[in-house]
Amino acid sequence: MTTGTDHAFALDLHAVSRVFGAVAAVEDVDLAVPARSFTALVGPSGCGKTTLLRMMGGLDAPSSGSLARAEGATGFCFQEPRLLPWRTLLENVALPLELAGVAATERRARALDALALVRLADASSRFPHQLSGGMKMRASIARALVSRPRLLLLDEPFGALDEVTRHELDLELRALWERERFTAVIVTHSMPEAVFLADRVVVFSPRPARIVADIATPALPRGERFWTDPALGACVREASDAMLAAIAEASR
Ligand SMILES: Nc1ncnc2c1ncn2[C@@H]1O[C@H](COP(=O)(O)OP(=O)(O)OP(=O)(O)O)[C@@H](O)[C@H]1O
Ligand SMILES: [Mg+2]
Repeated sequence: MTTGTDHAFALDLHAVSRVFGAVAAVEDVDLAVPARSFTALVGPSGCGKTTLLRMMGGLDAPSSGSLARAEGATGFCFQEPRLLPWRTLLENVALPLELAGVAATERRARALDALALVRLADASSRFPHQLSGGMKMRASIARALVSRPRLLLLDEPFGALDEVTRHELDLELRALWERERFTAVIVTHSMPEAVFLADRVVVFSPRPARIVADIATPALPRGERFWTDPALGACVREASDAMLAAIAEASR
């Protein structure tokens, strides 16, 4: 069931499960995501994270349980940028507005705004093949932001990037969220990235995904220095231990 929710929560999940035939992917998940918060979902490969994120975005529905989503647009960012090669960056970013029937002048202005948010305004007339991997990923974030979403869902967006670019984009994404304060939910395999970006890390068991830990990250400013702060290390260890314990439990 999908219904509106009150303004305090962007998402409110009660006993959400999802089965695909004989395969249970998500089991009995209770999770309230406050509006304007940043949540990271981590868990072993194949445990059901993408399935959960798709349900959060309304791309799939729970088999049982209830999922309430606040009013407002949702933006998606996937692992690959999925840009159309024959369109310029501006035209790619404006695509969701074009599909929504927004007039050309407004489309252009809003797409340029979204590109400016990710520091790509100067590259608006380039084609995807003329961009680096990091620039393509930023363009994909701009396209997700162009509809001014209340909720931004990111599924391992930086997994394919080199370390240096990924680090840069983590800093940029966190800064963007601090400025814009949409509700963000990210799936990532990197525990340090989860702790750096989010104010809360939710750890899942091996399939079917059940919540095994829900950890508040340190309330410290996110800049270069936070990456080497012992508080980040301690939080990464707590989340990793919870995941390893769940893996050991499942294999017994
Ligand atoms: N549409 C579908 N039909 C059948 N099975 C599916 C479908 N979508 C997902 N599954 C199964 O559900 C389980 C969880 O998949 P999901 O993609 O959610 O995992 P994940 O945690 O995102 O994995 P990864 O970390 O590798 O991205 C897997 O066993 C997968 O095969
Ligand atoms: Mg996945």
